[in-house]
Amino acid sequence: MSTNNTTTSAYTDFHLQFIAGEWQTGKDDSSNTNTNPYNGDTLVEIQQATKDQLNEAYDAASQTQEAWAKQTPATRAAVLYKVVNILDQRQEEIVDWLIKESGSTRIKAMVEFSATRAITLEAATFPNRVHGEIRPSNTPGKENFIYREPIGVVAVISPWNFPLHLTQRSIAPALALGNAVVLKPASDTPVTGGLLLAKVFEEAGLPKGLLNVVVGSGSEIGDAIVEHKAPSLVSFTGSTSVGKHIGELANGGEYIKQVALELGGNSPFVVLKDADIEQAVKAAAFGKFLHQGQICIAINRVIVEDEIYDDFVERFLAHVKTLNVGDPNKQDTAVGPIINEKQVKSLKEKIAKAQEEGAKMILSGEIEGQVVPPHIFTEVTREMDLSRNEVFGPLVGIIRAKDEVDALSIANDSMYGLSSAVFTADMQKGLRFARGIRAGMTHINDISVNDESNTPFGGEKNSGIGRFNGEWVLEEFTRTHWISMQNEPREYPF
Ligand code: TAP
Repeated sequence: MSTNNTTTSAYTDFHLQFIAGEWQTGKDDSSNTNTNPYNGDTLVEIQQATKDQLNEAYDAASQTQEAWAKQTPATRAAVLYKVVNILDQRQEEIVDWLIKESGSTRIKAMVEFSATRAITLEAATFPNRVHGEIRPSNTPGKENFIYREPIGVVAVISPWNFPLHLTQRSIAPALALGNAVVLKPASDTPVTGGLLLAKVFEEAGLPKGLLNVVVGSGSEIGDAIVEHKAPSLVSFTGSTSVGKHIGELANGGEYIKQVALELGGNSPFVVLKDADIEQAVKAAAFGKFLHQGQICIAINRVIVEDEIYDDFVERFLAHVKTLNVGDPNKQDTAVGPIINEKQVKSLKEKIAKAQEEGAKMILSGEIEGQVVPPHIFTEVTREMDLSRNEVFGPLVGIIRAKDEVDALSIANDSMYGLSSAVFTADMQKGLRFARGIRAGMTHINDISVNDESNTPFGGEKNSGIGRFNGEWVLEEFTRTHWISMQNEPREYPF
């Protein structure tokens, strides 16, 4: 599918902001030192943006959006298809950035690249898929038209874990549907979460001003991004605590705006007693340790029925011991580095707390630099910190369930409701169990880590509001406008 064009020269100048179609130096006094989480190398030093530069970005987005929305669907689709071509030509360059900036293993970088490509292709179909409706009226002589229009300017704030994909799944649909974007990538991944995509869209011929990338710290310019008058929608992906804050700001400030919030998760992975244990073991290892567990839909709780608990634990331990840990650039590395020291510290605290609370640590290892090897805990209960909270790292607790009913009760005992999974040989039982789970997504005989560009991705409870992909994001990034037409004089009561 993809081709490597050796004549393409690599993108440069990632020390600059992309505002109003120009690459400009950040004017804030502070700078962002972007480092490789595996070896600490400095990748780029970026002078941060000021609030004036943020305003400039919003002005450019506001000024260019209407003309973009008026372009033919074919014109907008052509830019998206060009983006797909450029992604393909630059696949190696992009994968290399994902490895060195976000600590992605090669396997994860390829998964992320493919997901990014898929959502871009899906978005390229949106300009021609968006459509209105005509509805009957109970008023004689009236026709009702329902138009679907671009929402206007969209603010996008994205996280560091799947930076390329989680940014692109907002900005590609937004732009395809005739909107303009102001994007703030995470401070740990300003390149793969924003600047690299700006280079790709610029090369694809996106008109200036429609995509702006403002690099700055969330705590410094985050509120200003949300509170600004220009955006009608704030698309946020990140932690539940910051998401709640953004929701409050978006609905409690001077200007009310829509929010799409993709927040934290606590995915249960349930293994029922009739499951193919070998397959469940492999799934649990991949769904837990891909990207070192730093995925909102990663397996967070492994719940196993009593009858097969010991067998599962023994086989899971043996399998996880075979995983290669370390340099993410090596082809066969399964577990690479954690994104930053703060996250490593929080994982160390979780390891200590799990032991304090009485969980049995059956696998551990030396933490070297930011590389945390897999840690497995057994005899974990639903009350323990490992079960209650999102781990976001390569630690896993295995909970014993008395039976299927107990397993479902444990699975649902969470304030999150993003993804989930159940293993069983009986598909009817699997479906019944899946429908009993209160979450946005459940996968039978597979991992909780699934994302397809044409199926609804999102959660409920403290995992957020809104859905990505397919028609769901098409609706999210457009507004509905009812226009009625009175074709003959209407009789009014007075
Ligand atoms: P956050 O700390 O929430 O950061 C996410 C983004 O929000 C970053 O760009 C961050 O900027 C920005 N931000 C921070 N404070 C802000 C504020 N006051 N106003 C506006 N923006 C602000 O999350 P994280 O540490 O990057 O990611 C880990 C968490 O995100 C986990 O809980 C994980 O589950 C969740 N997550 C969820 C999903 C989905 S799809 N539900 C996907 C990925 C991650 P700075 O980097 O500059 O602080």
